[in-house]
Amino acid sequence: MEQIDLNRVPQHIAMILDGNGRWAKKRMLPRNYGHRNGAFNINKVATYCDEIGVKYLTMYCFSTENWNRPQKEVDYLMKAPIRMFSRLKKQIQSSNIRWKFIGRRDRFPKEVFDLINELEDLTKDKTGLTLTICFDYGSYEEITQAVKKIAQECVDGKLNPSDITPDTIENHLYTAGYPKLDLLIRTSGECRISNYLLWQIAYAEFYFTDVLWPDFDKEELYKAIASYQKRDRRFGGLNDNKKN
Ligand code: IPE
Ligand code: IPE
Ligand code: MG
Repeated sequence: MEQIDLNRVPQHIAMILDGNGRWAKKRMLPRNYGHRNGAFNINKVATYCDEIGVKYLTMYCFSTENWNRPQKEVDYLMKAPIRMFSRLKKQIQSSNIRWKFIGRRDRFPKEVFDLINELEDLTKDKTGLTLTICFDYGSYEEITQAVKKIAQECVDGKLNPSDITPDTIENHLYTAGYPKLDLLIRTSGECRISNYLLWQIAYAEFYFTDVLWPDFDKEELYKAIASYQKRDRRFGGLNDNKKN
């Protein structure tokens, strides 16, 4: 296992959980089999993150574009939170992870809507990792809804357009109040963002791995964190030893 410095663990990690379909195809199994294994990997990886003191883990599980997939696959993915919760309820209750969901909430089945509310409510007082599931999430949509709310506040006279700052925008995103994103991990070898956290990635470090999501385990997580810990994050400035 890769060595990581537990005093410098990223506070906020985001993950694009990609490669479920290819994982199944490699085994000559239907794509949904990959989604099944991928879904059960979420709580495992969240637990590894919680163990080492990561505070926020934000996972891309269903995008606003994933509705374009075949109906059978969409139906299966929509039921994923229900299947996961019924299998993991006890584990979720006894762990210290706080579950949140972000994205649109008006397009998925009512039973999923109810389940999400139940899961958030059940874990709202947990003090460990905040695990955010991005479900029917897309960055264009997130930014658009933020702009609409800000515009409405201006129309209502509650906000002056000249007072709008980056913080105003940040506070209207689904991730309002979250710490800045430190590390973005994408599995399956694709090197793109796919409409994910476009605002939040401004100064995140990127880590791409060929490993397919259902195979992403503790060892892979540690590799990603070790790589992050070797980066020189400058935020546009210079680090102390380079100032002279
Ligand atoms: C990620 O796996 C899960 C979702 C996008 C819902 P994919 O289903 O995209 O798997 P690949 O990329 O086809 O292998
Ligand atoms: C991104 O993966 C969305 C999720 C992981 C939920 P996709 O597989 O949908 O992205 P593209 O189509 O390869 O860009
Ligand atoms: Mg994919």
